[in-house]
Amino acid sequence: MTGRLVVLASGTGTNLQAIMDACSTNVLAADVVAVISNNGDARALQRARDAGIEAVCLEKEQGELRRDYDTRLAACVAQYVPDYVVLAGWMLLLSANFLDHVGSPVINLHPALPGELPGVNSIERAHAEAVLGERVRSGAMVHFVPDEGVDTGPVIASVEIAVSAQDSLEEFTKRVHEAEHKLLVDALIQLCN
Ligand code: GAR
Repeated sequence: MTGRLVVLASGTGTNLQAIMDACSTNVLAADVVAVISNNGDARALQRARDAGIEAVCLEKEQGELRRDYDTRLAACVAQYVPDYVVLAGWMLLLSANFLDHVGSPVINLHPALPGELPGVNSIERAHAEAVLGERVRSGAMVHFVPDEGVDTGPVIASVEIAVSAQDSLEEFTKRVHEAEHKLLVDALIQLCN
């Protein structure tokens, strides 16, 4: 039996691409059954369409309460009956309304080590600290999302990534992204294979 994955992505979707590639080459015993984005322009949606995978744009309406959007999103995800919901560059905070109604375990990719740099721009903040001489390593992690905590929850896999004041932000960002692609696929292999 292969795992059913629903991927939530707001942006470029390089991590989604890594998952889809691992599925199509049977490295990962899973299928991406749908990709959902809160952003109609997300490259992730086009990547899904190119791979023949259902791509759903579910944008938050003007004035819509977060809890109402989260209920709609949970219902949309639940119709695919996924084994796992993967947040791969999902840039909206999810409330208990989503987690209580989605009916499947949710896992998140965070571009920093467990307990560090929660929220947005984690890569930029890690690099800025390295430039000030305050940091020599950052990392990436994949974790379960049990509650509304931001980038917290039981860790499935993590990796340390060196950073130095000599790195350009571009170099460091590239290193983090490459590490993330492998980490996320490895974590899903642990769960699905
Ligand atoms: C990744 O670096 C991911 O860790 C980060 O967004 C990027 C998405 O890249 N997620 C967060 O910061 C969530 N807090 P992608 O769209 O190319 O996969």
